[in-house]
Amino acid sequence: MSQNMLDDIRAGIEDLRAKGLYKSERVLTGPQQAHIRVAGPGSRAGAGGDTGAGGAAGVGTEAGREVINFCANNYLGLSNHPEIIAAAASAMEDRGYGLSSVRFICGTQDIHKELEREVSRFLGTEDSILYAAAFDANGGVFEPLLGPEDAIISDELNHASIIDGVRLCKAARYRYKHADMASLEEQLQAAGDARYRIIATDGVFSMDGDIAPLPGIVELARRYDALTMVDDCHATGYLGPTGRGTAEYYGLEGQIDIITTTFGKALGGASGGCTSGRGEIIELLRQRSRPYLFSNTLAPAIVGGTRRALELIGEDTSLKDRLEHNVARFKSAISKIGLDVLDRPTAIVPVMIHDEPTAVAMADRLLEKGIYVIGFTYPVVPKGTARIRVQLSAAHSDADIDRAVAAFEESARELELL
Ligand SMILES: Cc1ncc(COP(=O)(O)O)c(C=O)c1O
Repeated sequence: MSQNMLDDIRAGIEDLRAKGLYKSERVLTGPQQAHIRVAGPGSRAGAGGDTGAGGAAGVGTEAGREVINFCANNYLGLSNHPEIIAAAASAMEDRGYGLSSVRFICGTQDIHKELEREVSRFLGTEDSILYAAAFDANGGVFEPLLGPEDAIISDELNHASIIDGVRLCKAARYRYKHADMASLEEQLQAAGDARYRIIATDGVFSMDGDIAPLPGIVELARRYDALTMVDDCHATGYLGPTGRGTAEYYGLEGQIDIITTTFGKALGGASGGCTSGRGEIIELLRQRSRPYLFSNTLAPAIVGGTRRALELIGEDTSLKDRLEHNVARFKSAISKIGLDVLDRPTAIVPVMIHDEPTAVAMADRLLEKGIYVIGFTYPVVPKGTARIRVQLSAAHSDADIDRAVAAFEESARELELL
């Protein structure tokens, strides 16, 4: 390998460390759940980082120290649910460990087709296509549908996978200001000459926990003859009266042309995702979407686990109700102690610290007190909006939430924020 290139890579890594952008990975020594075990200092994959989570979790036994987890997308607490594990194990017993194939060669089992039907029923769409990840669903959705004579109009805060999907497509690109309908309309007008227009947005934005203004988007799409595409990764399973996601939240079921979502968050949290919508669109994706055509099929265990997750969510709303209870309990208590929270109707609760070093120090102190949260600072969020992002789960008990609030209060006093 060229010495110059190696030197440049090392310098690039050093630069990330110097700018506080180096991402280290904390090692868990048990399953993903409300209470997790975090390994000692020796097992850290790196140092520093933008997460604001310091090394304090290393204090503890070799098997790891127990902390309460408030930074997973385990919204419904299904990541280590016994019935999902049993369903995954049973699917693996019946259909094997892996398929060693892409779907169109010999990687489609009956259970893949069944999961596609069940996801479509859950989302109220005509058909769905599975991907190894929602990242792939977003990466493979635009290019087959749109060409240079078309336009994609994208919210400026959309997830990286939408941005990459747009880049892989030859359609003209337009960006509108985050959730700003006047800006979206301007961009739709600018794209007026395009053959087809598609508006792309996250359903729930993960940094602020806000929900895309779908009523305005759907109305503009109708007026400007555009399609709508919503990435519902942070909504599927818990948002809306029965957890069907952002469209159901607004009473707009059946009015979104394309929904992409993940099985890697509320639906058991393993991996995999899908694109769901009109039959003709999904049929074309099966023929032309590159991450589907040229990547392995979902493992049977994940298919079995995801199907059970959908059943559990479909049976009743108890998990989602528990999550809503937890969100309300946390938000009300944290506001009472005088901390500034962004009040959004999702399970993502940003506690605004504003000052960057203080946000980092706060996350460190919370971890020392057994509360695992992540501090986000510039450039992940705009300057002056540093925050601790708290993600609630149905798996949290009232006592977990009360402990977190007490730790927030103590840390905030230590840092003279209160
Ligand atoms: C909005 C959004 N879209 C897509 C993804 C990718 O999901 P997956 O992990 O299934 O690739 C994520 C995951 O972070 C996300 O938050």
